[in-house]
Amino acid sequence: MKISVIGCGYLGAVHAASMAQLGHDVIGVDVDKAKIEALAQGKAPFFEPGLPELLIEGVESGSLRFSTDIADARDAVIHFIAVGTPQQKSGTGADLTYVNGAVDALLPHLKAGDLVVGKSTVPVGTAERLAAIIEPTGAQLAWNPEFLREGFAVKDTIAPDRLVYGVRQTSESSGNPDESSAVALLNEVYAQAIANETPLVVTDFATAELVKVAANAFLATKISFINAMAEIAEVAGADVTELADAIGYDARIGRKFLNAGVGFGGGCLPKDIRAFTARAEELGRGESVAFLKEVDAINLRRRDRVVELVVDALGGSAYRKKVAVLGLAFKPDSDDIRDSPALDVAVRLHGLGAHVVATDPEAIANSRIRHPQLTFGSTADALEGADIVVVLTEWKEYRALKPVEQASVVQGQIVVDGRNCLDVAAWRSAGWRYIGLGRR
Ligand code: UDX
Repeated sequence: MKISVIGCGYLGAVHAASMAQLGHDVIGVDVDKAKIEALAQGKAPFFEPGLPELLIEGVESGSLRFSTDIADARDAVIHFIAVGTPQQKSGTGADLTYVNGAVDALLPHLKAGDLVVGKSTVPVGTAERLAAIIEPTGAQLAWNPEFLREGFAVKDTIAPDRLVYGVRQTSESSGNPDESSAVALLNEVYAQAIANETPLVVTDFATAELVKVAANAFLATKISFINAMAEIAEVAGADVTELADAIGYDARIGRKFLNAGVGFGGGCLPKDIRAFTARAEELGRGESVAFLKEVDAINLRRRDRVVELVVDALGGSAYRKKVAVLGLAFKPDSDDIRDSPALDVAVRLHGLGAHVVATDPEAIANSRIRHPQLTFGSTADALEGADIVVVLTEWKEYRALKPVEQASVVQGQIVVDGRNCLDVAAWRSAGWRYIGLGRR
């Protein structure tokens, strides 16, 4: 199929490369010249395992091209909209400037029979509004939310765990021609996943839009739930990781996303729960998702708690103490620092007068641009003479640190495990004072 992908950020670049890998003829379009130049040379503009290989393969075979000119999308039949929907600068709702801009730019190049497919996360009601703009050209709109996780983005795109198509439903019966042609085109795009019997939900625009925010709201709630239990465990002398194991054995609950720690961050969960709350309020149903404000508040309190634990462990003040911060990315296997709890904690400790030396396998360059006031270095630089070690992203290299070997390097043998990812017994038996979140 001839496919265009409008927006080559995180979602779009991975989507374009994955579609080419699946055998489609793909053109990726973005207004960012530097990004397009890099992608056209097969270079990934961000860290994502597996992406560089796909880009090189696609670009070299000619099945994957990139352009800054949206007119180059005109030969495509399917046009994916994969631009960002960041949090508004003044407010908590989603900023739809890029989505609206992409549709406006694409409009003169659309032809009858084309299918525009929204992938961006949008407030419910957006697709209906955009369909009214697109349909007069003879093209159709579908909403096909994306559930990819950073670090697993290629796998999640090529072999998703489910597909959701939101299509125009013009009658009660599912036999209307618009619906079936949009579904048929999407089935052709995702032929491999369909052949592998990937669960498929065909629904209306509003449900498809809501599926995405509901999924992220649920995941965020699950994390804040366990972090709330961590708060209680801290005062009750209980251990939240054992509690998570025990409740996680109940198949209805499940152990995944029950890791208590410094909380969630990234480009999706925090902004999506805020945008969902803002949209529900606009729809007069703010009370239905009022709990998401609490989910957000619990999440942000975990950052305060880590700072508090570090200061307490240092005897009441971090001033002039050397703090080794291990991890800056919002999660491992990513260089993404958007709304990263790790980076936030590092900045706050620096603000308290600590000599923070921060490290991360992939996210130093991005962190330095955002916070040049911090000192960055290797893991060895961070640990050398440190008064305290704070683990904030659970990269495998930090989980694999040998407490005995590190003991001679540091000044103070205190470790704050902001991700509950270290082997407590090993660190304690090596003489360290181990402080986890919600742990005894
Ligand atoms: C998320 C959704 O998982 C994905 O389906 C959606 O498409 C985009 O948003 P992502 O932002 O890549 O994906 O990260 P995710 O793996 O969900 O982690 C989000 C944050 O939650 C990270 O900061 C992570 O450290 C944190 N987290 C996750 C926890 O604190 N505890 C957990 O148990 C799990």
